[in-house]
Amino acid sequence: MTEFNAFAAQLLRRPRQVSALAPSSPSLCQLMASQLPRWARWVAEFGPGTCNITREILKLGIAPADLFLYELNPVFCRMLRDRHPEVTVFDEPAEKLASVGPQHVDAVVSGLPLLSMTSSQQEAILSAAFSRLGPDGVYIQFTYGLFSPVRSNIAESLGLEFTRSPRVWRNLPPAVVYVYRRRRN
Ligand SMILES: C[S@@+](CC[C@H](N)C(=O)[O-])C[C@H]1O[C@@H](n2cnc3c(N)ncnc32)[C@H](O)[C@@H]1O
Repeated sequence: MTEFNAFAAQLLRRPRQVSALAPSSPSLCQLMASQLPRWARWVAEFGPGTCNITREILKLGIAPADLFLYELNPVFCRMLRDRHPEVTVFDEPAEKLASVGPQHVDAVVSGLPLLSMTSSQQEAILSAAFSRLGPDGVYIQFTYGLFSPVRSNIAESLGLEFTRSPRVWRNLPPAVVYVYRRRRN
C-alpha cells in the first residue's frame, strides 16, 4: 500500500486522531526538519504518521539510533518499523516521552493535531516534551491555524516563547511552522 493510500485509509477510520486532509508535503517536511538546531543529536518525533517528516530528519544526518518516534496508530507504527528498522518506534501516545524512551532529547518534532486536542492533553504533551528537553531544546510544530497551536496559558505556565515561519502554501492546507523554546530571562 502506498503511503498516501495508508494515510487516506487511516483518516477514514480515525479522523480525529489523524486530523489532516493529506500527509504533509515535501516543502512542509523539509521546513520542519530544517528547524532542528545544527548541534541536535537526540530527537523525538510525535505523530510521524507515514514517515514523511521522519525521512527529512534522517536526511539531515540524525542517526537512526538517536531518533525516537511516538505514534498511536498501529498501522502507521508497522509501516514506520518496516521502513526504518533502526529507528525506535514507540506505539505510545506522545506524552509517554516523560516515562518511556530517552532521558534527554535536543529537539521534538511534532505532527500532532494539537488544535483538536483538549487543554489537558496539550498540557500533558508539552510538559512531557519540556521535561526531556535541555535549556536550549526546541519543540517544532506545524499548524494549519492562524495562531499559535499551543494555548497561551500553557505556553505561559511552561515559560515558552516561539518563532513562526511564513505560511507554506505548497501544502494541503497551507501550514505554518512554530518553534517553541524556553524563554531566557
Ligand atoms: C496530522 S497527522 C501527521 C502525520 C505526519 N507527521 C505528516 O506530517 O504527514 C497526525 C499524526 O499524529 C498521530 N497522533 C495523534 N494523536 C497522537 C498522540 N497523542 N500521540 C502520538 N501520535 C498521535 C496520528 O496517528 C497521526 O499519525
